[in-house]
Amino acid sequence: MNPALLNVTPALAASTAEKAAQAAALLAEIAREFPACAFANSLGAEDMVLTDLIVKAKLPIEIFSLDTGRLPLETYDLMATVDTHYGLKLKLYFPQAEEVESYVRQHGINAFYDSVTLRKACCYARKVEPLKRALAGKQAWITGMRAEQAATRGNLAVREYDEGNGLEKFNPLSAWSEKEIWAYIKEHGVPYNALHDKFYPSIGCAPCTRAISLGEDVRAGRWWWENPESKECGLHVKG
Ligand code: ADX
Ligand code: SF4
Repeated sequence: MNPALLNVTPALAASTAEKAAQAAALLAEIAREFPACAFANSLGAEDMVLTDLIVKAKLPIEIFSLDTGRLPLETYDLMATVDTHYGLKLKLYFPQAEEVESYVRQHGINAFYDSVTLRKACCYARKVEPLKRALAGKQAWITGMRAEQAATRGNLAVREYDEGNGLEKFNPLSAWSEKEIWAYIKEHGVPYNALHDKFYPSIGCAPCTRAISLGEDVRAGRWWWENPESKECGLHVKG
């Protein structure tokens, strides 16, 4: 979505401001209650809203990103912009070199297209294992997920216990609509990924993300060759 084209009606501005105040209050509360907390920042539109809220309130929340090695150029450009705009150096986690080398030697450089099992194995090596290292020793983590985003996220709570990783998990934007995200970005001049203006509402790794057509679901461009039910990378599985 291009925020310049968004019509921010008074009702949209009001609901966005109200939700932003609630999210800011929750983030401050998380930082107080869980001194060892971290925000997983994919640099998607939702995560840029959270970045803006955390940085502007100077909250002591660590902000990290998982650099899978296959991210789009536009995402790396945004990392550089985040540095200049906010003076924020994201803490990057990379995959273990031996894991990726062994996967690629065994299965091929683009083996994620061959089966759901191989796709999930790639996501495990490039995202899930690095996430576990990022969360080690933390009491809570924060994501930018929204309930409306996917069939798999319909019941998304603002607070849940992440059993797999053994810590509290917060989704402060769970109840936000896509329009509210963009209204916030427009109102606060938040930098965002250039791909969003090219019909990429949801952005992951370059080979596993495509633009969507009018009327398609916002996550239709993620792992587009798979069924909607399998379209999670393993960062957010329960149990
Ligand atoms: S995914 O599971 O399909 O990849 P999505 O792109 O919707 O997830 O992002 C959901 C949330 O997961 C983001 O708001 C962010 O908190 C976290 N996340 C996803 N990818 C990354 C990443 N590369 N680095 C850090 N956090 C990420
Ligand atoms: Fe690998 Fe694609 Fe998963 Fe990225 S999104 S880790 S390239 S399978």
